[in-house]
Amino acid sequence: LVAGIDSSTQSCKVVIRNAETGALVRFGQAPHPEGTEVHPDAWWDALQAAIAAAGGLDDVAAASVGGQQHGMVVLDAAGEVIRPALLWNDTRSAGAATDLIAELGEQLHGDAAAGPGAWSGAIGSVLVASLTVTKLRWLADHEPENAAKVAAVALPHDWLTWKLAGATSLDQLTTDRSDASGTGYFDAVANEYRRDLLGMALRRDAEHIVLPRVLGPAEEAGRGDEAAGLGHLVLGPGAGDNAAAALGLGMADGDVALSLGTSGVVSAVSEQQIDDPSGTVNGFADATGRFLALAVTLNGSRVLDAAARLLAVDHAGLAELALAAEPGAGGLTHIPYLEGERTPNLPKATGSLLGMSLSSMTRENLARAAVEGLLCGQADGLAAVTGLGVPVESIQLIGGAARSRAVQQIAPAILGRAVQVPEPGEYVADGAARQAAWVLAGGDAPPQWSASKAKTVEAEATPEVHQRYAERRGLVAERG
Ligand code: XUL
Repeated sequence: LVAGIDSSTQSCKVVIRNAETGALVRFGQAPHPEGTEVHPDAWWDALQAAIAAAGGLDDVAAASVGGQQHGMVVLDAAGEVIRPALLWNDTRSAGAATDLIAELGEQLHGDAAAGPGAWSGAIGSVLVASLTVTKLRWLADHEPENAAKVAAVALPHDWLTWKLAGATSLDQLTTDRSDASGTGYFDAVANEYRRDLLGMALRRDAEHIVLPRVLGPAEEAGRGDEAAGLGHLVLGPGAGDNAAAALGLGMADGDVALSLGTSGVVSAVSEQQIDDPSGTVNGFADATGRFLALAVTLNGSRVLDAAARLLAVDHAGLAELALAAEPGAGGLTHIPYLEGERTPNLPKATGSLLGMSLSSMTRENLARAAVEGLLCGQADGLAAVTGLGVPVESIQLIGGAARSRAVQQIAPAILGRAVQVPEPGEYVADGAARQAAWVLAGGDAPPQWSASKAKTVEAEATPEVHQRYAERRGLVAERG
């Protein structure tokens, strides 16, 4: 048996699968605390609870951790966590991102305005507040006493793998290409850390800061903690959650995943590194040795949670209301920047509801506008990914919000193409489990597990809705 772990923003999930066939054997989960600043100990506690709920790991041969990307876990020389982690959706480092962009532009081209291109050329992505490097600059500027103590920087999945190994030495920290590529100080083409960029962020020489060793896709990270009875467990390198989901879905060229979890993510595997100086698409690495194009919004499934709460219905009720309204929601436009936004880069934005009139203000239209608003943001991401020449043959709709009947039916109308809805599953944890099986089996490619069944959903395209959002989005963007 193999275990796959998904330590996500809102919870920790553990799947236990048969290593050869991929058949699901057991499952467990436990919640994470709310908020964008969380002490890693809370993830460790949730992982213990989720493992217990999944029946333990006594009969499991290997495990890998998939995790929320970018979270800043800073450790002192004794291996203690210095302060709670700042997560990917914490926007306090937006000013730090702006400063670092200008500084690299100035350094490389003598022109601060050349910064976006300088960063995407160096690390595959233009900086936004989500990337770890901006959080380190924030730390240097706002908590210099903590910044001075930093002896190692890890990501959520790196730290959990290290804890599972019962490690205490910083030199035992490991990561993989996919998560390293979201730090802002790793070049996924050269497969090397950019310590100069790390030092720029921390405003000090970063030569001696320990960074997790970057493992290959099926390289062993170590063994489980002997003292915890896990000495038999082979640990895989793990991955960032989006790369783990791509592995769980078995994505090939031409496959796009639209994942509506806490974040909204359009992702596609690519043979070449993506370089989008506009900053809309991140050029990260995947978990198999290739690259991953990602367009990520901060506002995913919680847009629907908020609408359901407002309308005092559950998610099935929200879907029913939304599907009872006409396409276009009677002219209501819901721009859902409820936690600020990253794509487009408007970290301080709030949401807007436009087009309110006596006739448009119905519960049905409010529900439909929430779904359309969420999906129009993702349609922009898809357009940006295809605009970079990444081929799109099929779109798989996954994540918590993909279970909504309204999302399934309205997505093909907004995206203007059919979508595949695989059976509800834990694709991040599944990808981690598949990686663990790959580590056990060895070889150049992950084991072939049978793909889950998917249904195809088609609908008449409603380009006018997307067009209206594009126009009105411009109005709110000016406000920031
Ligand atoms: C990716 C990103 C999010 C988190 C969510 O860049 O910030 O998708 O990984 O867990």
